[in-house]
Amino acid sequence: MTASTRDPRSETPPPGGGLRRLDAEAVRRDFPIFAARSEDGRPLTFLDTGASAQKPKVVIDREADVYSRSYANAYRGVYQLGAEVDDAIEKTRESVRSLLNAGSADEILFTAGTTASINLVAQGWGRKFLRPGDEILLSVLEHHANIVPWQMAAQATGASIKWIPLTPDGRLDLSNLDQLLTTRTKIVAVTGMSNVLGTIPPVAELAHAAHAVGALILVDGAQSVPHAAVDVRVDGIDFLVFSGHKLYGPTGVGVLYAKAELLDAMDPVFGGGHMIATVGTTGSTWAKAPAKFEAGTLPIAQIIALDPAIQYVKELGWDAIHQHERELLTATHDRLAAIDGLKILGPAPEHKGAIVSFVMDGISAQDIAVLLDLRGICVRHGHHCTMPLHDWLQVPASVRASFGVYNTLGDVERLCKGLDAVRKRLSRSRGVV
Ligand SMILES: Cc1ncc(COP(=O)(O)O)c(C=O)c1O
Repeated sequence: MTASTRDPRSETPPPGGGLRRLDAEAVRRDFPIFAARSEDGRPLTFLDTGASAQKPKVVIDREADVYSRSYANAYRGVYQLGAEVDDAIEKTRESVRSLLNAGSADEILFTAGTTASINLVAQGWGRKFLRPGDEILLSVLEHHANIVPWQMAAQATGASIKWIPLTPDGRLDLSNLDQLLTTRTKIVAVTGMSNVLGTIPPVAELAHAAHAVGALILVDGAQSVPHAAVDVRVDGIDFLVFSGHKLYGPTGVGVLYAKAELLDAMDPVFGGGHMIATVGTTGSTWAKAPAKFEAGTLPIAQIIALDPAIQYVKELGWDAIHQHERELLTATHDRLAAIDGLKILGPAPEHKGAIVSFVMDGISAQDIAVLLDLRGICVRHGHHCTMPLHDWLQVPASVRASFGVYNTLGDVERLCKGLDAVRKRLSRSRGVV
């Protein structure tokens, strides 16, 4: 079934209008892995969408279809097959443009993922424009992918990094923003949604404040783009990055949105085929963006199969996705709060997206994850690539349950029962009870 002919997975609006509800059981049937991994009758309880989302059949089929019926290198051949590939890649570029409400498809670059996109900005923009004494403003919430490239750029240019602290409940503490964000600040780089606490920072407010001192803003949308509509023009975002694989799309493809004038000013990071206008023995000139930043062979099939992933979430509808994930989030908070010795990290549900991280008294995060796995429940444990955040939390590791469109209240129930059982088993064996 193609994205355009598939059954609607959101119930039709009730008479008189109102919000469509997402039918998660029907959505699950769109994702082959759930049937494939439930053959023993035990449902797969996949609560690690924050790490990577499962794929709907439309995405899997499209990627296979490229290799089976419509494959050639992109932007190389004038023959029909090559032209089909070029058109399909440009179709995805236009879908991403529309998803983000960017002004032009030329502002959409394909990369290998969020990490690659941030490195591209830190090198292509940072190394060219940062000077000694300049400041880069990050938040304590950031994933290592939005820290380490800036540390590398700072080291190379003599710029320094400042940190937006957190409130006790894990939101950005903006009470001293005017001291942190000054004319020395050249870029603010913040997550659109924390991959651990679920915190959603006020991106538009930060963009406004950054622009008021002449700074730019980069939003790490790895977690936020799959959960909520984004409008780079309304929010005033200069750079926005995300990964296809967290948006129910293929691995190996990511996006960098950047305003056209920034792409004109930036240096390319990779040199090679496709990114040039001219090459001579004494030097080369660059093509215009996006080609300027897309040297070499692109992840062709992955880019093409990102399009049905985008259409899939758009068809479900952001309002329906939001309402569904909010229901799961609230239920998880309510149920986990009743488990003895369990502490949820981060803010209340109204300040966060569909991620719940927690620790349990006297039980390691790894033990919890291993014991839940025995019950078919997939959660992530560790520092989740956020060591500065875990230092701030004063825990070495946490357990994370992250939700997607295919999760149900049954998944929440199985997680909570599993955690009850973990607590009873380990507390007893350690003589705590
Ligand atoms: C907030 C955030 N930023 C960046 C990344 C890195 O994404 P990728 O590994 O797809 O480059 C992740 C991945 O978990 C993330 O959650």
